[in-house]
Amino acid sequence: MPKVHITTDNLTLDVKDGYALIDMCEEHDTSILFGCRDGACGACMVKIVKGAENISPIQDDEKDFLETMAAEPNERLACQCKVYGDVTLEVSE
Ligand code: FES
Repeated sequence: MPKVHITTDNLTLDVKDGYALIDMCEEHDTSILFGCRDGACGACMVKIVKGAENISPIQDDEKDFLETMAAEPNERLACQCKVYGDVTLEVSE
């Protein structure tokens, strides 16, 4: 069972394989914020510290949006991510 460690909250959660980060955050109290839930607002941006290969691949729409936000290469939109293995992330500032 994959583990998601959120350094910002000092919290580690076990999730089902293929589980959406947004669903995980709805079930637990985390500091990841959500707005549009559709990859269009940037409220849910997180930095993947470890395990980027265990997150669903980035799609063109998310990539384009992150480029317009001048995001760092390890940043993703949590609302667009599913988890397939251990991941460590922190909330982007
Ligand atoms: S909640 Fe708006 S981009 Fe993720």
